[in-house]
Parts: sequence; C-alpha cells; structure tokens
Amino acid sequence: MPNNSLGRPTVCFIDHDALRWNMRQIRAKVGAKIKILCMVKANGYGHGATAVSQTLTGSGADAFGVATMEEAVELRQAGMSAPIIVLAGVFPDQLGELISNELVPVVYDVEILKQLDAEAQRRQKTLGVHLKIDTGMGRLGVLAADAKEWIAELKNLRALKLEGVFSHFSHAESVEGDYTRKQLAIFNEVIAQLRAQVLAPPLVHFANSAATITMPAAYFDMVRPGIMLYGVYPSAAMASQIVLKPVLSWKTKILQLKKVPSGASISYGQTFVTKRESLIATLPVGYADGYSRLLSNRGAVLVGGQRAPIAGRVCMDLTMIDVTDIRNVQQGDEVVLLGRQGPAEISADEMAAWTNTISYEILTSVGARVPRIHYNT
Ligand SMILES: Cc1ncc(COP(=O)(O)O)c(C=O)c1O
Repeated sequence: MPNNSLGRPTVCFIDHDALRWNMRQIRAKVGAKIKILCMVKANGYGHGATAVSQTLTGSGADAFGVATMEEAVELRQAGMSAPIIVLAGVFPDQLGELISNELVPVVYDVEILKQLDAEAQRRQKTLGVHLKIDTGMGRLGVLAADAKEWIAELKNLRALKLEGVFSHFSHAESVEGDYTRKQLAIFNEVIAQLRAQVLAPPLVHFANSAATITMPAAYFDMVRPGIMLYGVYPSAAMASQIVLKPVLSWKTKILQLKKVPSGASISYGQTFVTKRESLIATLPVGYADGYSRLLSNRGAVLVGGQRAPIAGRVCMDLTMIDVTDIRNVQQGDEVVLLGRQGPAEISADEMAAWTNTISYEILTSVGARVPRIHYNT
C-alpha cells in the first residue's frame, strides 16, 4: 500500500488488484457470453468513478451504470467509450447532452418516452434507450400490469431506439425468496409479450449482485453487479459461493495522545467520562468526512492490530478513541477506520451494523474531503 504524503493523513486507499480480482470472479460466474454492466454510480460506490471505470474497462466491462447524466459525462470526458446507462432519471432538457455524449437514458414512463421521442425527432437525431419495468420494486418503471398500453406506445416510436429492457429486484441481500421469484416470473411474462410482437430489444437484464451470485435464471443478456465489484457481499451467507476482496480501506493517524485522569469528560455533551486514568487519542476524522456521528460511543477502530473504542461523540472534524489498553501507542501511529490491520479487520458490514445502516451507505458516504489513493498491490 502506498504511503500517503498529502498532509492530512485521513485517506481511502483503493486496491485496483482487488477490483480486478472481483471482476474476474464475476466473469467466471456468468461466463463469456453474458455482458457485464458495472455499476459505478455514486462515484463508483465511493471509490472514485473514473479510476474504477478505467480499471474495469481493462478487465472486460461491457457497459457502465450511473445514476445521473453528470456522472455519465464525467466518465465520457475521462475517455470511457463503453455504453453508459443513466439509471436514475432523465429530463427532456438533457436530450442534447445525452445525444452528444452518446449516453443511454433509462425511460420509465410513457409520457417521458413520448416527450423524448418528439424532442429527438425535432432535432432529427436518434437516441438509444432502455425501458425499465416495475415488477415489484415499486420505484421507477412502467408497471408490468400495464404492458398492453405501453407496448402499443413502443410501436409508435420514431426517433428513440429501444436497446434494452430491464427490471430491478426488491431484495438486494438475497434473491432466494418467493417475492424475487414472483418478480422474475412477471418479468419473463413481459419479455414473452415483447417477443411475441417482435419488440424485444437486444439487451434484457435484471441481475444485481445477489442474483449474479445465486440466480443464473436472472442473467438474460447482461448482469448489473454493484456492491460485489467493491468486494462486499450482498449478505454474509454468500461468502461460501464466491470469494471477493474488499477494495477500499480507510485510514488515518493519531493526531494527539493524552493521558487524562479518572473522571475526565471526552468530547461534546459529556457522554463519555473516564472511569480510570486513561490514554485518549484524538483522530483527524469526523462526520464531515462521512465518519458517522452514529458511531459515537459505539464504533471502534484498529490501532496496533487491536480494537480501540470510540470515546464520546464523533465531532465534525475530530474523533477520540480510548487506547488505554493498547501497548506502545505513539502519536502518528496508523489507525484503520475501515479495512485490515494485521490480523484484525473492520468491514463495511460491521460499521454498517454499528450505525444501523447497510454497507452501501457506508461506502458512498465517505466524504469528498477524503482523498482516494489508487494503487496496485
Ligand atoms: C438499477 C440498479 N441495478 C443494479 C444495482 C446494483 O445493485 P447491487 O449493488 O446490489 O449489486 C443497483 C444498485 O442500487 C441499481 O439501482
């Protein structure tokens, strides 16, 4: 792992060999014929979208998925030439930029379909789109139950080219349940209707990470893995099915080390009062870096290969830890917030459990103030 010489030592290290490894596992799972759309929305799940996409391009990514047009333009400007699908909303006034950057928006409602088609016709341009079908996620998408109506509209399109059709599972951590099977059955029914009318596009897709790992019936032409690319399992049980390597680790260094007497109050609001003479370390990281305030008096970090609990409230820029029980701690020592140190590890899942959230939110919440240092092992 490279040395951080940027000054403030609170940084994320992004392991591109681990990223390549995870991509190889996905390819091995799905085989050579299924395309892989790599989800790099939200700044590559917090890892740095451009750098991650460059590495994934070299590892055989067939397409990229982002949430916003701005995220897509960033990738195009960085030289990514693969198809980029904009998944979380399209607005008619974005048409010019979508066309000039060869981006593929997702459409999810008949009105938008018509508006985009009219606007593209007016400009005498064509635009490829993917149609999202709501099979039970209850989010974006035309309702499968309304298929007759929107299939009729598909026949009227002049300037829009239907390149893909897809859906999204409601369950991201496991796809073993009845509800998932029901979603898949509804989707298969819609695809059959499209095929019957010779309207099925070349790319049919459904699988998130969980389905990529455990549900080949949901592969169709392309899978859309996100969290597993970054080395995090959709659920702990899936570790027996595929070996993934965490890509991100988050580190800092001890800023100040202080011996305080018993009865000393640490941080805002006196929520932590020492019960003995204690050694308290102050770290240059806080909730403005995305280090959740919910970790106050709950989370832990790694120092010298051991766990040290967070003492008192996480502040905006600083956090205190109790290192009384760790030997030979020095000012400037490395502290791991997320990742490995010797035999010890704090995973995104563990941190998520401390803050009552999911690994996705942990990774995507690391702030813009924290530099990402990209490296190969
Ligand atoms: C439409 C869509 N497809 C695929 C994914 C990837 O899901 P996962 O990260 O669980 O693999 C997401 C993530 O939220 C998504 O919104």
